[in-house]
Amino acid sequence: MNIKAPRGTVDILPKDSWKWQYVENMLKEICGRFHYQEIRTPLFEHTELFERGVGDSTDIVQKEMYTFLDRGGRSITLRPEGTASVVRAFVQNKLYGSPVQPVKLYYFGQMFRYERPQHGRMRQLNQFGVEVLGSADPAVDAEAIGLAMTCYQELGLKSLKLVINSLGDNESRQNYRQALVEHFSPHKEELCTDCQARLTQNPLRILDCKKDREHPAMQTAPSILDYLNDESRTYFNQVQEYLTMMEIPFTVDKNLVRGLDYYNHTAFEIMSDAEGFGAITTLAGGGRYNGLAEELGGPNTPGIGFALGIERLMLALDVENITIPVDDKLDCYFVAVGEEAEKQAVRLVHELRKQGVQVDKDYQGRKMKAQFKSADRLQAKFVLILGEEELANQVINIKSMETGEQREVPITEVTEQVKDLLQGGKE
Ligand code: HAM
Repeated sequence: MNIKAPRGTVDILPKDSWKWQYVENMLKEICGRFHYQEIRTPLFEHTELFERGVGDSTDIVQKEMYTFLDRGGRSITLRPEGTASVVRAFVQNKLYGSPVQPVKLYYFGQMFRYERPQHGRMRQLNQFGVEVLGSADPAVDAEAIGLAMTCYQELGLKSLKLVINSLGDNESRQNYRQALVEHFSPHKEELCTDCQARLTQNPLRILDCKKDREHPAMQTAPSILDYLNDESRTYFNQVQEYLTMMEIPFTVDKNLVRGLDYYNHTAFEIMSDAEGFGAITTLAGGGRYNGLAEELGGPNTPGIGFALGIERLMLALDVENITIPVDDKLDCYFVAVGEEAEKQAVRLVHELRKQGVQVDKDYQGRKMKAQFKSADRLQAKFVLILGEEELANQVINIKSMETGEQREVPITEVTEQVKDLLQGGKE
């Protein structure tokens, strides 16, 4: 039997996982500076959460969810995104009652979408996201966008494009929705079957359709920006002012509608415009979702956030030839020769590790020469040698692989000596 990982999933092997760790640590560190705290929510939720939260007319809910009945007959879904879960957790755990408001959260996690896999599009994908709940201040929109941009920039990415739009408040969107229905209805028969359904269910999504992109009615479609009421327009202007003050370049794209239903007011995406990035260029997406907490049974709470795909971030780093600093040198390699020395090595290696020293040894019964070869391959800084002679004298030879210098120390002092050497103490 030849079992492979399911389509749209990958293994992240040690040759790459250290890069992921580096990136994740950097993102966590940035979240710390922006004063966001981590939240971890379940990988699966009741299906209803996404139907209500993400919206049952969205592609995600209609076509892409991994949904199944559990053994108790409940409909369960592997989360396709993080926002609905975070807002559910916010409501369920009454974080709206926390004395510190707004509540600023970040998360890392696997999401699951039954999409057609291709370069940059997975069925199991990793997102890093943030959600801010409890403030309707446009400065928070700018902060979230600023956080996303900082993540990319501090990792070294340069070819970035930020696009923003406003979907307005409910009133603005209702009026716009009506205008879109009136605009597209005469062309209904010429639109794809998905868009024909969208015309009644979710007309905004027509603007995002890949199949009907070239239809003339697309070019002449009304713009949401002409339907924003005063309050929504002022809000959008304030977000733009803040971005300008923060020196974050952006362009307004009136066709940016996003694929999830919970958005209102600010919507944004960050794209890579690096040459050779491929067809899918969106690195991150987000926006405001002021009604979502209420929709999920909580008090009326404003919210905003974004998520970025880590796979796509990794691709962008590759395409822009950004090298991640690596420290893959091993501190110590323990070379033991002879049966008794081998036993002592097991004890000493464990002791050293408990004392905070990174050390490895041979587990293949190799001869001394081969053990030295392993030490070389692992780029060990020091080799600790315990042969028969050393054992008889109760000493260990510590050899610096960099200088070739060697010193003999009593077995009982080896931990202290090694720690001293690694801290750059006298040799
Ligand atoms: P989204 O636009 O669906 O938004 O996904 C955000 C990011 O996740 C995308 O820009 C992309 O980098 C990555 N992504 C999505 N689907 C895939 C896939 N199939 N393969 C690889 N990467 C993918 C959300 O998920 C919202 N929850 C974002 C948000 C947070 N809005 C407010 N708060």
